[in-house]
Amino acid sequence: MLPLVRFGKTELRVSRLALGGFPLGGVNRARGWDPFTGDGRKAAIGAVHAALDAGINYIDTAPSYGNGNSESVIGEALAGRRDSVVVATKVGHREMTKESVRESVASSLQRLRTDWIDVIQFHGGAYTLEDVRVILDDGLLEALRELRAEGKVRFLGFTTEEPWTALPLIVSGQFDVLQIRYNLIYQGAALHALDAASKADLGVIVMRPMTSGIFQRMAQFLAPRWQEAHDLYEVSLKFVLADSRVHVANVGMRWPEEIARNVALVNSFVPPFDMAKLPRFTAEIYRTEDEELPH
Ligand SMILES: NC(=O)c1ccc[n+]([C@@H]2O[C@H](COP(=O)([O-])OP(=O)(O)OC[C@H]3O[C@@H](n4cnc5c(N)ncnc54)[C@H](OP(=O)(O)O)[C@@H]3O)[C@@H](O)[C@H]2O)c1
Repeated sequence: MLPLVRFGKTELRVSRLALGGFPLGGVNRARGWDPFTGDGRKAAIGAVHAALDAGINYIDTAPSYGNGNSESVIGEALAGRRDSVVVATKVGHREMTKESVRESVASSLQRLRTDWIDVIQFHGGAYTLEDVRVILDDGLLEALRELRAEGKVRFLGFTTEEPWTALPLIVSGQFDVLQIRYNLIYQGAALHALDAASKADLGVIVMRPMTSGIFQRMAQFLAPRWQEAHDLYEVSLKFVLADSRVHVANVGMRWPEEIARNVALVNSFVPPFDMAKLPRFTAEIYRTEDEELPH
């Protein structure tokens, strides 16, 4: 069973591996995956059950994944098991009002067949300063605070692909959870956001920890021997888990074997080094090398 860690100031106890809900919602012909058919929906529900049975207690989804289908699959899969799972979903922030935020959360609650959402996140890519102003001052955050007071959501968060654009929201003091893109090939979070997130004691969950398969595809063309020698999915997951500022890796998974493999890896992995301490600016790299030279 997966050990649990403290998820920042939420004080939730979460597994370091989460089930990413994106694949649960939509069709992927190359993978022979269609959760809109009867058998496909059963397979998607099976993935949720396999994850819970293996000790994963965090599931991330969004209304836009399969136009509500991911939330609906998760809602059905969690029948009788809701209490033991941290359910995180999202709400848009562009062209939204206080009322439409409330409506979106109400629809998510219905599809998820639950009375509460553990983590509600503004669903973002890159935040402009105007986005930040609208979220904080034009009623969007207020809607979530009201929903929290009503017991319909427990913790407030936001998601971001571009780490530096998230800083104003991180330091606003209004959020409990940050979901951020961070992986072997997108390391902006390491430089621009994770220290601030740790200082704010946010629960930190990483999206696209396996690079969404991009690094592996690049390696296929540029360094095919790497793939013969190593499982590059394993390397990617280890990279994220080896950063002490990251609590949870949110991995998109469909198959029980894939879930079992990632769970086994999380269970057995002892980071050889804290990636948070890896020097990433040129001057830091040179300084570290100088320090390592014998005097
Ligand atoms: N803005 C946002 O809020 C945002 C944006 C993107 C993602 N997310 C969240 O983050 C989650 C993860 O992102 P993601 O799914 O794009 O990327 P990811 O987790 O980096 O990669 C998922 C891919 O990795 C493959 N995979 C996983 N474990 C594997 C293993 N052990 N061996 C081989 N392949 C393996 C999966 O293969 P299969 O296809 O074969 O299953 C899938 O194609 C999403 O599901 C979603 O919840 C949020």
